[in-house]
Amino acid sequence: MEREILIPREAIKKRVKELAEQISSDYVGKEPVLIGILNGVVFFFADLMRAISIPTKMDFIRAASYGSEMESSGSIRLTKDVEMPVQGRPVVLVEDIIDTGLTLSHIVKNLQSKGPESLRICALIDKLERRDIEVSIDYCGFKISEGFLVGYGLDYDEKYRYLPDICVLK
Ligand code: IMP
Ligand code: MG
Repeated sequence: MEREILIPREAIKKRVKELAEQISSDYVGKEPVLIGILNGVVFFFADLMRAISIPTKMDFIRAASYGSEMESSGSIRLTKDVEMPVQGRPVVLVEDIIDTGLTLSHIVKNLQSKGPESLRICALIDKLERRDIEVSIDYCGFKISEGFLVGYGLDYDEKYRYLPDICVLK
């Protein structure tokens, strides 16, 4: 499949640093739990966590949605839940890309039920094209209007995750 670079690695690096600075100053004196949504988030998560200058903790959650490769079906189940206690703690949920918002809203509901002190959302990419459920993103890396993106952890049918730049499939 043909692809074209949309967000080069230098731009990703710069933006991740800015997001990290914002999170670091918002949580001074706290130790937020960063919860990444597997698998696509791994590179973003690792870069973000290392760029944040205050202490943080990490955990991960994984959701599966039944649907085609390019579209989530709306039926979502957790295949891996968080293991760290989040009750009474500040939580930042870290996601790679938000499309319809269905995955995220399902995970937000699950996490809210565990009683965190606060819950904010950090997403590398906000895809505005097909939002079905409104989700408020507190820390957003990039907004794009349309297109299917791969690279920097994002996949198409488990391919292209290894690409260092974010590309759009043609
Ligand atoms: P949503 O539930 O429709 O918001 O979809 C969110 C999930 O679908 C993301 O966590 C990604 O795994 C996947 N996804 C949505 N858009 C893209 C894309 O452009 N490239 C790669 N994965 C995507
Ligand atoms: Mg994902």
